[in-house]
Amino acid sequence: MTSPDLAEHPFDLSSQPGAEWWRTAVIYQIYPRSFADSSGDGIGDLPGVTAHLDDLVDLGVDALWLSPFQRSPQKDAGYDVADYCDVDPLFGTLADFDTMLAAAHGRGIRVIVDLVPNHSSDQHAWFQAALAAGPGSRERARYLFRDGKGVHGELPPNNWDSVFGGPAWTRVPASDQATVDATPGQWYLHLFDTSQPDFDWSNEEVREEFRRILRFWLDRGVDGFRVDVAHGLVKDSALPDYTPPTDADALGGGEENVPYWGQDGVHDVYRDWHRVLAEYDGDRALCAEAWLPTIEQTALWVRPDEMHQAFNFAYLETKWDAAPLRAVIDESLRAYGAVGAPSTWVLSNHDVVRHASRLALTEENPQGHGIGPLSPGKPIPDVGLRRARAASTVMLALPGSAYIFQGEELGLPEAVDLPDEARQDPTWFRTAGERYGRDGCRVPVPWSATEPAYGFSPTGASWLPQPASWANLARDRQIGDGASTLSLYTTLLAGRRTHRLGAGRLEWIETHEPGILAFRNGNVTVVANIGSAAIPLPHGSVIATSGPITDGMLPVDTAVWLENGAA
Ligand code: NOJ
Repeated sequence: MTSPDLAEHPFDLSSQPGAEWWRTAVIYQIYPRSFADSSGDGIGDLPGVTAHLDDLVDLGVDALWLSPFQRSPQKDAGYDVADYCDVDPLFGTLADFDTMLAAAHGRGIRVIVDLVPNHSSDQHAWFQAALAAGPGSRERARYLFRDGKGVHGELPPNNWDSVFGGPAWTRVPASDQATVDATPGQWYLHLFDTSQPDFDWSNEEVREEFRRILRFWLDRGVDGFRVDVAHGLVKDSALPDYTPPTDADALGGGEENVPYWGQDGVHDVYRDWHRVLAEYDGDRALCAEAWLPTIEQTALWVRPDEMHQAFNFAYLETKWDAAPLRAVIDESLRAYGAVGAPSTWVLSNHDVVRHASRLALTEENPQGHGIGPLSPGKPIPDVGLRRARAASTVMLALPGSAYIFQGEELGLPEAVDLPDEARQDPTWFRTAGERYGRDGCRVPVPWSATEPAYGFSPTGASWLPQPASWANLARDRQIGDGASTLSLYTTLLAGRRTHRLGAGRLEWIETHEPGILAFRNGNVTVVANIGSAAIPLPHGSVIATSGPITDGMLPVDTAVWLENGAA
């Protein structure tokens, strides 16, 4: 099957096995509600994306990943989908999507979209029908409804907690029929918010519906999908009790044998989807959002007949420290290489503290907890930015595919001082403010230092307030400033392309100095000083440096790319 869009756009559709675009691509994450607002309502939209595509061409990205823009009541910023095959009016229309896609393809930029298969919104027609139909019905069998425990079913079916805090089960009122025979109302499972009921993936009707949804977007010409909670679809059918450790990452990384994460049966779903994508011309790709205890386990998601990429969260979660970084890079290249997949690299996204802040935190901060005004160990901004620039300089030299989260190319930090009343992440509400949640990394992007809402929206509206200090980080301030973070990213992305680093091979350089990370990829030598004192800059001509080099010395928290260098 050939989609009309793809036939027209300028990609080579006949790439050889092993040379597919997703193996080496730099993929830029757009979080639509915070990228660019064309309508003036304070929420970014699809025409806003289209309007800024040339900026992304200038930056040098290969592809975009769009977080959800489908119809949704926005209880979890669109990760609660009410209609998988339509655009939410907040973001525009299907025609706006088609326009954006064609405009991206016309510029040689691929587009992958978010797919949220673990759960729907409670406003989805299927869930509404399930509520109306009552226990034992075909409608309820699409979700995970169960009778409660206790004499009157007043206790939830097990002890699971929601990722966002609070119980993972909500009880529904008894149906009319049930009231008559005194049967108590059932409970439904939601690993996330109450408004996000989990599908039952043992039900063939659910599987068929998602094949239809995949084809709907593939027919429109998308280049692939980022699959939300890809490790969560299949649950242990016995639904046994489970209590995670208190310091666990919210989305599950680090925990073994969790009855709702990483169950074996989930792989059948992705083998099936692999076949659906293979019906289409061009290299369409699936990328797993799977938080798992080890890289070895994550590599199972990208075996040759399953997905194509998986986010490398182990890399994201590695401390700013040479030895563990070297270890995680080695292990990634080994484990993904063993199954014939590229490693991906990622430092920030819409669920984690931005790396310009995270890398300077002085206290542990589990994923999903966020930081706010009262958090202990808050980062010193200058230290965070310096480390973030160095970390990105390392990341973008690694072979494989790299993900960039909108705004990191501007050096945006986490917005720490958001007022309580502005916060919208369900985590904040479900933990009664105990966890700040993820709003701090989702604040709208500053485009122009002097315009209202820094050019994010023509009216100055912004769904989360932007910190005053962000004027200096606005894109227009950074363009043309050779020392800006934007210039650094532009240089790195151009260099990555010229030197074909994505398709390259990594070779470590032994420096025998603690705190120094040094490797070669083709004719580029990368040296990062993660130690405690400046070191002499190795020989070679500088292609890019994350910070100033003075008197021939490479300062602490600085990384450099050298051509023909010898560390
Ligand atoms: C992971 C997404 O990235 C996150 O933003 C969302 O809240 C959960 N999945 C639930 O869909």
